[in-house]
Amino acid sequence: KVKIITTKQEICQWAKQVKTSGKSVGFVPTMGFLHKGHLSLVHEAKQANDHVVMSIFVNPLQFGRGEDYTAYPRDEERDKKLAKEAGVDILFMPSVNEMYRKQQSIKLMVTERTDKLCGAKRPGHFDGVVTVLTKFFHLIMPNRAYFGLKDAQQFAVVAALVDELDFPIEIIPVNTVRVPSGLAISSRNVYLTIDEKKQAPALYQSLLLGKKLIEEGETSSTVIIKTVSSYLNKQLGETVKIDYVELLSFPELEEIAEVSRKVILAVAVQFSAARLIDNIMVDS
Ligand code: PAJ
Repeated sequence: KVKIITTKQEICQWAKQVKTSGKSVGFVPTMGFLHKGHLSLVHEAKQANDHVVMSIFVNPLQFGRGEDYTAYPRDEERDKKLAKEAGVDILFMPSVNEMYRKQQSIKLMVTERTDKLCGAKRPGHFDGVVTVLTKFFHLIMPNRAYFGLKDAQQFAVVAALVDELDFPIEIIPVNTVRVPSGLAISSRNVYLTIDEKKQAPALYQSLLLGKKLIEEGETSSTVIIKTVSSYLNKQLGETVKIDYVELLSFPELEEIAEVSRKVILAVAVQFSAARLIDNIMVDS
């Protein structure tokens, strides 16, 4: 049975009790509108922990001006049902006022890895992510926290957060869940038009093309990025805007001229109402 908690005080109390009992806690932070990607994090968490806590909180701090904070898809009742079916023990669903009661006088700032990929277009986004996660980590005190590699930059930033600020928490990466066409599952897919839904699998296809090039021995970043970009342009046409195609070292997220170790190939595409991202890791 899933227990729903909405206050910081209550979740804190629960967490302290569990700590004293010596049981382990796995934590799955989300913004809700749950799908199979989120549920695969729960699945991983259940296998390694005595209790699983999921948070559902659309965090205003990580949305920029003009981004989709108010329009972000929400469906609490469906989320509760899915979380319960997946075996979540505690669902933490605080309100914005509960999470951020006062005007803030402390600001966390991410100073590396933010000028690349999605960070470049979303100033302050990762500051908002690490702020809310710091609060959740303190309240829930999990042994492990689970993050999808679909948001690979987020994973890298969070891994740095726990390392540099000494959170005694293990950060576990989880592979991207896709539909059979290859499209990565995302809460934002609901904004795609019917035509765009047919085009969207091109993102993953372009990544597979890039991966194949690397595996066949291509090492030049420029060549790989050019090939992937022109494939995307051809598949998506002119109405769809390619935000970026980037090839970086992972998890450092540094630009590389030549592929020589673990790299991430990542794309972001702006459709009419949805901005989709995807990436693939290649170990060369
Ligand atoms: P949200 O976008 O709801 O994603 C919650 C978690 O689900 C993230 O770790 C994300 O990487 C993972 N996820 C999303 N789609 C996935 C897929 N197709 N396969 C595997 N995992 C997937 O990311 C956030 O929320 C927020 O930034 C948050 C961490 C909760 C902080 O507010």
